[in-house]
Amino acid sequence: MRAFLASVFNPLHQGYCLSLSASYNSKNPQLLLPMSKTFQRTLVTAALPYANGGVHIGHLAGVYVPSDIYVRYLRLKGEEVLFVCGSDEHGVPITIRARKEGITPQEVCDRYHGIISKSFADFGISFDIYSRTTSKVHAETASQFFRTLYDKGEFVEQESEQYYDEEAKTFLADRYITGECPHCHNDKAYGDQCEKCGTALSPLELINPTSAVSGAKPVLKKTKHWYLPLDKHQQWLEPWITQEHPEWRTNVMGQCKSWFDMGLQPRAVSRDLDWGIPVPVEGAEGKVLYVWFDAPIGYISNTRELLPDTWEKWWKSDDTRLLHFIGKDNIVFHCIVFPAMLKAEGSYILPDNVPSNEFLNLEDDKISTSRNWAVWLDEYLVDFPNKQDVLRYVLTANAPETKDNNFTWKDFQARNNNELVAVYGNFVNRALVLTQKYYDGVVPTPSVLTDYDQATIAEFQGVKAEVERLLDAFRFRDAQKEAMNLARIGNKYLADLEPWKLIKTESERVKTILFLSLQLVANLSIAFEPFLPFSSQKLRGWLGLEKAEWERLGATDLIASGTTIAAPELLFEKIEDAVVEAQVQKLLDTKAANEAANYQPEPIKTAVTFEDFEKLDIRVGKILACEKVKKADKLLCFTIDDGTPTPRTIVSGIAQHYQPEALVGKEVCFIANFPPRKLKGIESQGMILSAVDADGSLVVITPEREVRGGSQVG
Ligand code: 2FM
Ligand code: ZN
Repeated sequence: MRAFLASVFNPLHQGYCLSLSASYNSKNPQLLLPMSKTFQRTLVTAALPYANGGVHIGHLAGVYVPSDIYVRYLRLKGEEVLFVCGSDEHGVPITIRARKEGITPQEVCDRYHGIISKSFADFGISFDIYSRTTSKVHAETASQFFRTLYDKGEFVEQESEQYYDEEAKTFLADRYITGECPHCHNDKAYGDQCEKCGTALSPLELINPTSAVSGAKPVLKKTKHWYLPLDKHQQWLEPWITQEHPEWRTNVMGQCKSWFDMGLQPRAVSRDLDWGIPVPVEGAEGKVLYVWFDAPIGYISNTRELLPDTWEKWWKSDDTRLLHFIGKDNIVFHCIVFPAMLKAEGSYILPDNVPSNEFLNLEDDKISTSRNWAVWLDEYLVDFPNKQDVLRYVLTANAPETKDNNFTWKDFQARNNNELVAVYGNFVNRALVLTQKYYDGVVPTPSVLTDYDQATIAEFQGVKAEVERLLDAFRFRDAQKEAMNLARIGNKYLADLEPWKLIKTESERVKTILFLSLQLVANLSIAFEPFLPFSSQKLRGWLGLEKAEWERLGATDLIASGTTIAAPELLFEKIEDAVVEAQVQKLLDTKAANEAANYQPEPIKTAVTFEDFEKLDIRVGKILACEKVKKADKLLCFTIDDGTPTPRTIVSGIAQHYQPEALVGKEVCFIANFPPRKLKGIESQGMILSAVDADGSLVVITPEREVRGGSQVG
């Protein structure tokens, strides 16, 4: 049995008031008392990933590693816990990908469901079930759910005008309509967003809308949909979140409050689409449940699939604690829409907390599937086989818990080399190597403990409570740091006592030192079990420990004297510069490929006559000298042989694209009849011609073979 803060407002969480924190009371004296609530079990859900792409580090850092750490921790404590997830297989993006590839949406889902499930398994994400929303049980559960709300009169039916493609005979989802953005006039804006200026749009705002299905001009046509009247739910949602759950993360609370301040609006829960779960009422042909209606029900159907006889205990029992782990783009759906659905249905519990992370960027740029700006888990494992824990460690150390964070390959290397290798691995290795060397790998028998030993023990015994306090508060980065503290304590202990010096003079003392060091190593294997399960298991294998016993974290008798431990191996390996440089290069290649793919030449300028052209005097000249112009980042000063006895001086703004010495001896084209003008005090007599490449770099124009200085170009 555990005690957590819960609320008195939630009728499904009837409990009793026990305690009140002073600050809560004094700030909000009128509030009902928060109470201590007992729960028997915890149901943890992790956001269902869309089955139209693989899993990348942003997903892992934001949702799956933290939820996995938490669940592993609860399991270690012997709590009753269930961890559910699955692929989100409906929605328009999947149909778009299918259409592009000329395959069915189901084929798209099958492919990515396989890739995603494998990545999760490879990284040790320990779901009790990973299913999918195209399963039969999900279709039944979601249909039943809709039908219950429909029968209870919880929906509002409303007609609206939406774009219809008369050629393809289909209503068009927002993403299927393209047109000109009314803000930036990008003519490839989508009906829901302009990707050029980032503005959220409605299809009706697009100028010259076109159907992406047939290319036809769509017409407006009336269609009926079912809406969840969130406006009506606001009266209980707002106090439930803002008053009863003051402990929710600031980012979650902030987003919810801003929705409440704007005033909740009814939300359509159906769509005109041919991919999804059919709306289970008469007269709804061609309509399916909106993906955001059916996806969260996936948590329920996956539980039901795993536990057909007992699933209700997890969803309808007051003593179950429900936690949703999500990324920040999912906050409104998990804190507002899904709770409103659950409440409207009437027999379900509501989430007790929604630990949501901010975003992880990659090398200072937003992770993007469409731009392939990501580190994909399957590719990572090819380049870093068996290094799942390194990524888990780095992503937790950099978890975007309170603000967006950045993943860089340099930091990945530094955290591996300076923390996993130099702190954790180093301590383990020293303890194992010395035991091997002095005692043939047999754990020695300790003698009297000194005050210093006692102080060290007291220090590492405090780690358990601290890790627990932080994990209970969903502070995974700090909790992992605290686990790492055990290794720091161990390194300090060995460095201070220097058993390698004492071995000749105080061999009994060395036995105690190594005995305690090995106990610390064993403790590390327990403390890191939720965070780095692969390394912990490996370490336990070396020590002959059968399982991680969380309740024994801090103990000094985890491995008995006389136990033979394995010959030392490295727990973590150094990552060399060349390895991370190759990863950075891979990203640079991606960037270059994106730029090339998106490259659009500048539009052709207004027509000119031959006479206009003839007025320009373009010549070839050889660069005799070239140097940087002082106090000007962009300027180079050229001395050019233009065929006349006096070389010509030209100042050109290409200093950021060339080293001056690299240009000397080259022939370039220049305009010879511009009036001279002064740049940084130097009189420039012309303009050097260069091409602007796709990435914006400037490239000088040179003749195909050497010609005499002063030759005319025409
Ligand atoms: O944002 C996403 O990736 C969604 N597929 C998350 C769904 S979470 C839940 F509601 F299923
Ligand atoms: Zn725009």
